[in-house]
Amino acid sequence: MSRCVHVELDERGYDIRIGASDLTEGLCLQEGTAVLVVSDSNVDPLYGDRWQARLEDRGLVVTRTVVPAGEASKQLDRLNDIYDAALGAGLDRRATIVALGGGMVGDLAGFAAATYLRGVRFVQVPTTLLAMVDSAVGGKTAVNLPQGKNLVGAFYQPLHVAADLRTLASLADREYLSGLGEVVKYGIIWDAAFFTFLEENVDALTSRDLACLEEVVARCCEIKAEVVAIDERESGVRAILNFGHTLAHSLEAACGYGAWLHGEAVAVGMVYAAALSRDVRGFDGDDVARIRELLARLGLPVSAVRDGVSPEWEALRAVMATDKKSENTLPRFVLAEKMGAVVFGCDIEEAALKQAYEDVT
Ligand code: GLY
Repeated sequence: MSRCVHVELDERGYDIRIGASDLTEGLCLQEGTAVLVVSDSNVDPLYGDRWQARLEDRGLVVTRTVVPAGEASKQLDRLNDIYDAALGAGLDRRATIVALGGGMVGDLAGFAAATYLRGVRFVQVPTTLLAMVDSAVGGKTAVNLPQGKNLVGAFYQPLHVAADLRTLASLADREYLSGLGEVVKYGIIWDAAFFTFLEENVDALTSRDLACLEEVVARCCEIKAEVVAIDERESGVRAILNFGHTLAHSLEAACGYGAWLHGEAVAVGMVYAAALSRDVRGFDGDDVARIRELLARLGLPVSAVRDGVSPEWEALRAVMATDKKSENTLPRFVLAEKMGAVVFGCDIEEAALKQAYEDVT
């Protein structure tokens, strides 16, 4: 049993397969061609052999390359390592790069696939919840520079995404729960009934129930696919996927990368954005409370306070000013109008920005 969600992008459209099984059935790779599987030092020992065998069973010539686990690998030197591995394995223009891992591996391997020989086939095999519902879908690939995150990259759609939910069992609790932050986002930005479904299924979600996860990951992918099909290159509506991310990015940067997992920072950022929406757009205060309560029940942080301290507002605001999405140092916000409906590109008065921070401190 698996589900299939199609991303409608004309000739670049592709399927996302989601299930607790091998999921290689939709992979149309030409027999005898070369495949480079890119993974990290956490994921390769767990799933590398299995994926190599699956691909070899389909007549593909497989080489694996492994980067150190962690965001620090999303950089140009590791990209060079992948090009070296691709050249060493003799990958030609019919070859495929497979990203086996979480968001870091997907972004790095995806950018390698977009640029090696001006682009080779690319398949995403996400192994974290965050990658399954967000980074593996939609074609954003990038590496970080010392000056900032994701500063060099490309929009490059995969040929196929295979999300084997069984890989979620090996995630540490904190990392798994962090993925639920992005899941909740889809309910707030697009689908109020999905938000209610999440409220009614907290136990199944926290216990990683596979049937519930199949439904939830499929719905998140459907929503992301719908948004990306309208606006692949983020010239408009795709920005709504950044709900909660303005404060989240500032928290991650101000506290040092790694202190907050991305989904944790997004959870706090969504409470902040919901409070801001209440203050400046009349978003229902009861819905702010529902968002805070659902995130807390899922085991996610809803406050920027850690060990009794929170970053000063001024420090976070200074980071926001340098955000890629700011215009003339003014952050552009995604705000909720009602549950399941948001608007993007909102400028907010400084006083309101500061005031809403009190809701998360
Ligand atoms: N993660 C936001 C996007 O894919 O646009």
